[in-house]
Amino acid sequence: MVLGVTGGIAAYKAAEIVSRLKKLGADVRVIMTKNACEFITPLTLETLSANPVVCDTFERARTWEVEHIALAARADLFLIAPATANLMAKMATGLADDMLSTTVLATRAPVLLAPAMNTAMWEHPATQENRERLARRGVRFVGPAEGHLACGTTGKGHIASVEDIVAQACALLCPVCDLQGRRVLVTAGPTREPLDPVRYLTNRSSGKMGYALAEAAAARGAEVTLLTGPVSLDVPHGVHALRFETTQDLLALALEHGPAQDIVIQAAAPADYRAQEVAPYKIKKADGEPLTLSLVENPDVAKALGERKRPGQLFVGFAAETNDVLAHARQKLERKRLDLIVANDVTRPGAGFDVDTNIVTLISREDMRELPILSKREVADRILDRVLELGAPASD
Ligand code: CTP
Repeated sequence: MVLGVTGGIAAYKAAEIVSRLKKLGADVRVIMTKNACEFITPLTLETLSANPVVCDTFERARTWEVEHIALAARADLFLIAPATANLMAKMATGLADDMLSTTVLATRAPVLLAPAMNTAMWEHPATQENRERLARRGVRFVGPAEGHLACGTTGKGHIASVEDIVAQACALLCPVCDLQGRRVLVTAGPTREPLDPVRYLTNRSSGKMGYALAEAAAARGAEVTLLTGPVSLDVPHGVHALRFETTQDLLALALEHGPAQDIVIQAAAPADYRAQEVAPYKIKKADGEPLTLSLVENPDVAKALGERKRPGQLFVGFAAETNDVLAHARQKLERKRLDLIVANDVTRPGAGFDVDTNIVTLISREDMRELPILSKREVADRILDRVLELGAPASD
């Protein structure tokens, strides 16, 4: 595999990444940009990788210029960690003005980027557009994470942890295809229940857990359909996404697509209530009088699907609770005829809405397994492992 290192303060992490990947048996070829060599010496990475390091400042770069196309072709994975905003911009436009950008342009291997930069740079529309463009072309991303940044601020832009980078690299290098031939339906995100033409009721679901599940299932070879509420996340590579707004829309899609699935995982947070009547015009203020909204109960999508479950189908639900977590979760397991319920206490730091981690307990009829704090992607893989243990059969 090739590891590209660009010039940012996080470049020093490359040393640990190389060392971990070597220990796992990878043959790592390092390419450093000129600026990366200002942050970490090529000698360090040469020693750790036990391979010559290619660097634009090295004299032997000349001869290497011919060889790099061969390496680009031979690579089974192209990881760039850290990846600067500049490198992302170059890749997005196809610029090839140094060894790293030239080699990555010439590769057909899967590309994984671990961006690291200041929060404002990461959030800049130019960087976000580049990220979207690259993601659409199949480039994978790990991070960035929230954290303390070299510029003295705290925010998004910190390089992902070495564990996450190495885990994603391994997943791409040796994909486990244990869900090959299975059809998986995942629901994700909140609903929006309209009140009038400009307002709606919603909740704090970010969709991250559902998207992580869809991504993990697709990476493990499943044919994945994602029913998604309004969220600002990129649809994972190879996943077929259909959008819903309201709980009733979700119910219609779930009833249409549910019967064909082997596994249904319901991570969406459908609103339990909707307005009895949607006002045709914008609701006006009433001179200080209280405003009364009449709400009616929405259908329970999981329950409706549970009632139609065919033998062999395996259904997973979520229970985001604030109190009596396990008792509520067990009741939901029964009421919705689920095989597994993923319970979490959303009041705990590191669990629940809009964070990249989760702390969950997996409850089946037989047992209960408490997981430590993990990234949502890792929680997704643990849920899929458990689903396979519970014996989800493949459809023919
Ligand atoms: N769910 C559903 N339809 C609803 C509400 C929830 O399909 N109208 C699903 C969710 O996708 C989740 C599970 O049911 O997998 C549990 O959701 P939760 O909101 O915790 O449960 P509720 O049944 O709404 O119970 P309550 O709000 O009373 O806790």
